Amino acid sequence: MIIPRQNRHKRNHRPRFRPIQTVTFSLLPVRTAVNFFRSKNIHFLTPEPENRACRLQHRLFLTLILKTTACKTMLYDYPQYYEAAFSFRDVAWEADFLKQVIDRHAVVPVRTVLEIACGHAPHAGELSRLGYRYVGLDKNPHMLAYAREKWRELNPPPEFIQGDMVSFELPTKVQFAYVMLGSLYLNTDEEMQSHFAAMARCLEPGGLYFLDWCVQFTEPLTRQLSNSVELNRDGINIKSEFNTRLIDAARQLYEEIWTVHVNDHGQEKTLRTVERNRAIFPQEFLLFVKTQTDFRFVGWWEDWDLNRPIKGSAAPTRPLVLLRRK
Ligand SMILES: C[S@@+](CC[C@H](N)C(=O)[O-])C[C@H]1O[C@@H](n2cnc3c(N)ncnc32)[C@H](O)[C@@H]1O
Repeated sequence: MIIPRQNRHKRNHRPRFRPIQTVTFSLLPVRTAVNFFRSKNIHFLTPEPENRACRLQHRLFLTLILKTTACKTMLYDYPQYYEAAFSFRDVAWEADFLKQVIDRHAVVPVRTVLEIACGHAPHAGELSRLGYRYVGLDKNPHMLAYAREKWRELNPPPEFIQGDMVSFELPTKVQFAYVMLGSLYLNTDEEMQSHFAAMARCLEPGGLYFLDWCVQFTEPLTRQLSNSVELNRDGINIKSEFNTRLIDAARQLYEEIWTVHVNDHGQEKTLRTVERNRAIFPQEFLLFVKTQTDFRFVGWWEDWDLNRPIKGSAAPTRPLVLLRRK
């Protein structure tokens, strides 16, 4: 996932950028849980070392606390805040743009569109208005429950499927698929192969796969991206901070760390999402598509403009890539 610094079509939106610090607070929920148990006189953090049962209980408690607190701080578990954090996007414009891609490049009639990593399915309403049936795939049940509720009256009715993009099956084939905001969470060559095999299975021959910000023309391994955005929506104040961190240079692995401070009518929360990603560079991607997938490369463009193919020395701010199922 990448937080857009600005949308080309929304030039007046200029988030503030500043270096950020991303540490300490993630331990806060653990501390809170420990304090809670202490207040109940449960001192499991000082086990009797010679007592095996006590040591086991201690380990169990710690695991439980770390797991529950880690889950609770995930932004994706609070879709309403995720939606608020991205409310500056012009979703209608983006949906119209997807239609433009279809109109220009589809060679088969497009009836159903699939969004990979759909989250709360921001485009479902607009795509439906444009005449497409919407299918969303995501692995987070909270996001999917929120999307189902939000779009429950849509016609044609959307379909939401819980699954992992690395490998999944769809009940029926689609003619257009897309992934937004660089949400292609694949960590290894094997996961890439598996994902594109799943995409090939679910797309009709001639169908299109559109990838927003998923190929890294300006590489994230040495460059520390960071930005922060603050906005208000329906009385909710959201401060987002985004950063990247190199994990393994040889494996092209980096982490995206996204921290959101929420003030919801006086109730404060800090939510954090960390996604591990393998950088995909342009020429390796072309070679990969050509030799290891059932797709053909159609083109790449910059900054939401189909009249601007990526070329020359200027680094694209928001690369878009289009593939066609053979
Ligand atoms: C940045 S959000 C994008 C949501 C939406 N597409 C949008 O444009 O706002 C990324 C989404 O990817 C989902 N996700 C992360 N890893 C995934 C995986 N391996 N398979 C399916 N979904 C995944 C998360 O649950 C989250 O909803």
